[in-house]
Amino acid sequence: MGKDAWWKNKVAYQIYPRSFRDSNGDGIGDLNGITEKLDYLQSLGVDLVWLSPVYRSPMDDGGYDISDYEDINPMFGSMKDMDRLIAEAKKRGIRLLMDLVVNHCSDEHPWFQKALREPNSEEAGYFWFVRSGDAPPNNWASMFGGSAWEPVGDGRWYMHLFSKKQPDLNWENPKLRRKIYEMIRFWLDKGLGGFRIDAITHIKKMPGLPSGPAERPGGLVGCHAYTRCIDGIGEFLTELRKETFDRYECITVAEAAGVPPHQLKDYVGEDGYFSTMFDFSYAEPYNYGRGWHTAKGPGEWDFRAWRDSIYLSQTETQKIGRGAVFLENHDYPRACQKFVPAKDHSPAVQKMLGQLFFYLYGIPFIYQGQELGLDNPHFQSIDQMDDISTKNHYRIAMEDGLSPEEALPLICRYSRDNARTPFPWDNTEYGGFCASGTKPWLWAEPADPKANVLQESSEPDSVLNFYKEMIAIRKSETYGPTVVDGFFKPILKRYDKLIAYTRTGDRNLAVVCSLSDRSRFVRLPFLPKKVIQRSCAGESFRGQTLKLLPYQSLLMEF
Ligand code: NOJ
Ligand code: CA
Repeated sequence: MGKDAWWKNKVAYQIYPRSFRDSNGDGIGDLNGITEKLDYLQSLGVDLVWLSPVYRSPMDDGGYDISDYEDINPMFGSMKDMDRLIAEAKKRGIRLLMDLVVNHCSDEHPWFQKALREPNSEEAGYFWFVRSGDAPPNNWASMFGGSAWEPVGDGRWYMHLFSKKQPDLNWENPKLRRKIYEMIRFWLDKGLGGFRIDAITHIKKMPGLPSGPAERPGGLVGCHAYTRCIDGIGEFLTELRKETFDRYECITVAEAAGVPPHQLKDYVGEDGYFSTMFDFSYAEPYNYGRGWHTAKGPGEWDFRAWRDSIYLSQTETQKIGRGAVFLENHDYPRACQKFVPAKDHSPAVQKMLGQLFFYLYGIPFIYQGQELGLDNPHFQSIDQMDDISTKNHYRIAMEDGLSPEEALPLICRYSRDNARTPFPWDNTEYGGFCASGTKPWLWAEPADPKANVLQESSEPDSVLNFYKEMIAIRKSETYGPTVVDGFFKPILKRYDKLIAYTRTGDRNLAVVCSLSDRSRFVRLPFLPKKVIQRSCAGESFRGQTLKLLPYQSLLMEF
């Protein structure tokens, strides 16, 4: 579906609504705040905007716990505000994507409430209730810590792969599926551009719900092998597509962790379940294992393995469809923290990381603040943090014998809250996030107070202007067709700490990114004609030999 789809040359942007812009001064970002800033998004040149969930929710997991799929959380505004946002965005050539969270809902959803009250109700069948006395039905672990089962006091347990306030929906039940399809059509009828689809590879559970070999404290086993990309999931996904997305002009972007390369075709091929998908195979090279406190830092993990996973994802995907490429989202720290040692962080490094991802084959998704080159803010204590996953990893660190002082900096590096602090618009207090000087719902001292929209707009060399330029290049008549459709091929593989590829089509383009802290020579497999865009000045050429500065990257034509 992706090869020649209407959205193939678009650029997407992800908003975390709670932290984008607070229009009414209550310290919480909202829909009207987004509407207020649509001109900013238009000035960037983005065409699609994905909103993390804004549905009614008790916000146990930042809104990924939905208690009413057809209503807006009052903290974000009203349905009228949403309709206005959709319309105002459209006027600017921007289409909105909502987050579709249908692997689970909230325990405060009326369905679940009724299921608790009436074990024989239709709604009870929407969930995974199992009678199993005093012990959970199996030893699966929840992704947010502890067992994936919670007792309700009458001998029944329910499954929750995420928090216990996020009961999993039972997709085996056709009545539940019909409800979900109706809800999706309700939104698409409003003229939505489509959906980013949460945790969708988890909707099928292994038949029989078997226990696995104990591998964690408490005898638990990670749930992925039993609940991710399980055989038979395709039947649900095909039906989902036919009953909903196929009937509209929309784009669907699946959060599809765990899809093996040989199944990519089913997901994003010509007749795939989705338009496109995020591939997480190269998102966590530090492979944190049991907890963030044991995760390796940049420079400590296997660079070549990481790089090869990017290359593999690219070469496999371009054979069959088009992936959604990203560097950051609301579930990760800022990308520079993942990939570059802290001592080396700079705006030029941010630009290098930008080039590295932006010119890959696929549709690019920019996460709010990435275009400003934001680094992790400075959290001083666990009390300043909100994220459920962060609290879980902090607890695991303690269980492993770390003191709070030891645990905090380790947890802070990978905390999801790093990307969830308010977006900085200007130099005033709290970055001008709130309409008044109110304290925002989440706050930590920014790494660099000068990294904000106002300041960077006035500096020609800013990361912000660099991102605008990348978007303009992708849209230009000269290079656009090649950036969008050009063939991806990795080059210079024998060099360590180097990510380099060509994109060839109408034109011949090459991207070379050094992740080394030293200057270096590389021998190019072509004779360069021109440098189109550079992360910083100072490279030199002699024939096919290129001298790069530390962390320098170039987009070249040859
Ligand atoms: C993935 C979302 O991106 C994340 O924020 C959330 O916690 C889980 N899915 C559960 O919905
Ligand atoms: Ca507000």
